[in-house]
Amino acid sequence: MVTGGRNSGDFLRLLANGREFGLKHLDYTYQEGEGGIADALALAEHFADGQKICVVLGDNIIQGNVREAVEEFKQQPTGAKILLKEVPDAERFGVAEIRDGRIASIEEKPKHPKSNYAVIGIYMYDETVFEKVRVLVPSGRGELEITDVNNAYIREGSMSYGHLDGWWTDAGTFESLLRAANLVAETRTKNSEAVLVKP
Ligand code: G1P
Repeated sequence: MVTGGRNSGDFLRLLANGREFGLKHLDYTYQEGEGGIADALALAEHFADGQKICVVLGDNIIQGNVREAVEEFKQQPTGAKILLKEVPDAERFGVAEIRDGRIASIEEKPKHPKSNYAVIGIYMYDETVFEKVRVLVPSGRGELEITDVNNAYIREGSMSYGHLDGWWTDAGTFESLLRAANLVAETRTKNSEAVLVKP
């Protein structure tokens, strides 16, 4: 759990030692400044301890789960795996260009997206990810970009991808925060109705 900024204490208060969520243990670390997602990931090197790692951005909310993709990635000897979702507003995200069934490149927030496939904020990496982060240079917005990490895997020819089923949203704008709240509310209502109609 990598947090940063003034509100990072809220995460400790909410998640505590993870017991309420069925977890045996939680590792916390703290990102100083706003160095970007890849900079935050660098803080998890100690936690990964030479193993593969799955990175989930805290503001990404999905309807289903990524169990199948994770199982596939476990079978993949090396490299990385990302998940794509078709969206109407691709310019807000990292966007994948797909050629001959492979990802040719990812562009971060392009003005003119080459496809409608957004790269969602759930990434799977092998242990070389930390070497890749170490050689990154800050982008125009002054951050170490996770898209640059993904492009390093693409150049190496070791990036696989899947398509996410079910809805996905981030919560980085007021509009998407509202959408996220509504989607979760709808799902909860449906689930409780399903429980009510069960014989
Ligand atoms: C980040 C990534 C972007 C990805 C998005 C998913 O965007 O940089 O590639 O599509 O998360 O939520 P940011 O939250 O930094 O704008």
